[in-house]
Amino acid sequence: MSKSLLHPGAALGLQLRRTDFNSDFLWGTATSAYQIEGAAAEGGRVASIWDSFCEQPGTIRDGSNGSMACDHYHHWPEDLDIAQNLGSNAYRFSISWPRIFSSPGSAPNPEGLAFYSRLVDGMLERGLQPWATLYHWDLPQYLQDQGGWLQRDTAHAFVEFADVMSKHLGDRVKHWITHNEPWCTAMLGHADGIHAPGIKDFKTAIQVCHHVLLSHGLATPVIRANVPDARVGLALNLHPISAASDKPEDFAAARLHDGLRNRWYLDPLYGRGYPQDVWQALGAYAPTVQDGDMQAMAVSTDFLGVNFYFPEIIEHAPGASPLNTRLVEAVGVERTAFGWEIAPEGMTSLLKRIQDDYQPHAMYITENGATYDDHIDANGEVRDELRRDYLIRHLLAVREAIRLGCQVKGYFLWSLLDNFEWAEGCSRRFGIVYVDFATQERIPKLSAYWYRDFLSQADISA
Ligand code: NOJ
Repeated sequence: MSKSLLHPGAALGLQLRRTDFNSDFLWGTATSAYQIEGAAAEGGRVASIWDSFCEQPGTIRDGSNGSMACDHYHHWPEDLDIAQNLGSNAYRFSISWPRIFSSPGSAPNPEGLAFYSRLVDGMLERGLQPWATLYHWDLPQYLQDQGGWLQRDTAHAFVEFADVMSKHLGDRVKHWITHNEPWCTAMLGHADGIHAPGIKDFKTAIQVCHHVLLSHGLATPVIRANVPDARVGLALNLHPISAASDKPEDFAAARLHDGLRNRWYLDPLYGRGYPQDVWQALGAYAPTVQDGDMQAMAVSTDFLGVNFYFPEIIEHAPGASPLNTRLVEAVGVERTAFGWEIAPEGMTSLLKRIQDDYQPHAMYITENGATYDDHIDANGEVRDELRRDYLIRHLLAVREAIRLGCQVKGYFLWSLLDNFEWAEGCSRRFGIVYVDFATQERIPKLSAYWYRDFLSQADISA
């Protein structure tokens, strides 16, 4: 990464300096195992629910899958070199459960353990603080065959996975994220059916959600017992929600939607139990909860990971959804190529709201980024000015949140590499590094050079 790809629009970046943030602020990038590793049949890895899901026709927009992805399993030294050359000081990755346990009750797979051991050593050698996510959606298929997250036993299997990984890596990995975006696991995977395992049943989704949050609560003390100086938390996708109009029914609908999207996770994690308004609205959809579950879920955490992408506008719509709410498209707003509204000010207000309502010990932005239709130009460069501007604007929003008193301690950009974007396949590029999936060539985009220049405090004027 030697060149500089600056252009006149860099003026926006002039408003932002690394020194605006505390010197111990973490600057990272994030990835996840199924999205980048590939090598699906190597190292003793068995199938995950995503391998099976991708095989079903029509599930993935471009028909691709994660069997190769970025082939990070083989390219990891090069990828960590890029992260180091950016000047970042932390790296968020996830551990593939099906690389570690090959069948119910099996002993941990030595090849899987060795791979993550090498990866973590590689991070430490490059000055990257490892942040390990235990569950980023790739459940072993054999557990799905036994009922998956709908079964309470899966929460116990997760605790065993957390136990093995924290024992194995805990001498070097101090930051642990139990789950990534439980809402997606539950709702996209089990209500909408657009993610693995492709189930479309709202009641199942609500119960799955309960078992996922329970597994976080049960695993956290186990990680702490294995790693006394561990910092444990989880990463939630949270959204600012507003009402489509000032009609009371739209306000009530927005409040309920906020309840299901945000408070359903935050309230129990911060010791308040499930929000009563949502519980009542769920009626027969409410989950089965055993004695002690809510106490387990309320285990104290060291940080909250916030994945921020977009806000939502809601109206009352009888019959449109189990809670009679419906999303309304904002008009005249800027959007990424995914169609997601760009709203950095929403990020500030969301962080402030979390700070005020829940007072987490610390918050980390565990994901934030954008997809655009990137292409390599005639000079061999990928000039993703829009992504760079997106990142600058969101970092300005984080800076503002900190000014307002939010305890935000770090920022992990999603993502280091273009990767397998779930149901969208390889067609949605979120990376600051372009990946040619045919040749596995990595080409840092303009946004990567911007991040490097920002982190190095170089003069980024045009
Ligand atoms: C959230 C997920 O954690 C990640 O896997 C995904 O690629 C990004 N959002 C972008 O959709």
